[in-house]
Amino acid sequence: MKYLIIYSSKYGATQAYAEMIADQLKGDSQSQNVADVTLENLQAADKIILGSSIYMGSIGKSMQKFCVKYEELLLAKPLDLFINGLRSGDELADELAKAYTEKLRHHASQQAAFGGKVNFSKLTFMDKKIMKMVSKQEPQFETFDNSTNLSLLNEAELIRFAQQI
Ligand SMILES: Cc1cc2nc3c(=O)[nH]c(=O)nc-3n(C[C@H](O)[C@H](O)[C@H](O)COP(=O)(O)O)c2cc1C
Repeated sequence: MKYLIIYSSKYGATQAYAEMIADQLKGDSQSQNVADVTLENLQAADKIILGSSIYMGSIGKSMQKFCVKYEELLLAKPLDLFINGLRSGDELADELAKAYTEKLRHHASQQAAFGGKVNFSKLTFMDKKIMKMVSKQEPQFETFDNSTNLSLLNEAELIRFAQQI
C-alpha cells in the first residue's frame, strides 16, 4: 500500500504532523509539500491524506487550488483529511466544514484536527500583529504571552487518526 500525505504548511507545524503520520503508517508512506506534488505522484498513490494549516479561517491557497485541480483524481482514491489550527469546539467544526471542497469532505473516510502550534519568534511582523490581536480577544489564549512557543498538539489524537488510515 502506497500512502501519500500532502501538506500545506506556512511555518512547518503541518509538515511535522504529516511526517509524524507517515512514521505511524506501515508500508510505503511519503509526505510531500502540496507545491511539489505531480500528477505522477498522485497516480502512484493507493491512498491520499491531505493536511493544511488554517489562516484567517481558511486552508492554504495552494491546497485550495490543488483540491479543485485534482478533485476528480482525489475522488477516485481512498482519502483522509486533516486541518491544523488553534481553534476548538464549534469554531473548529466550522473551519473543518469549509476547509476542503464538499465532494472531497463527503468522500473522505476521516476528517480531523489535532491542535496547532505557534513558534512566535518565527512569525512575520504581520502575523505577530494578527496573533496579538486574536489572543487579546480569545480567552483560551490568555496565558500565551506572544513571545514563547504555543503547542496545542494532541499527539494521541494524531496517532488515533493515523491508525484509522
Ligand atoms: C496570523 C495567524 C492567523 C491564524 N489564523 C488561524 C485561524 O483562523 N484559525 C485557526 O484555527 N488557527 C489559526 N492560526 C493558527 C495556525 O493555524 C497554527 O499555528 C498552525 O499550527 C500553523 O501551522 P503551519 O506552521 O503548518 O502553518 C493562525 C496563526 C497565525 C500566525
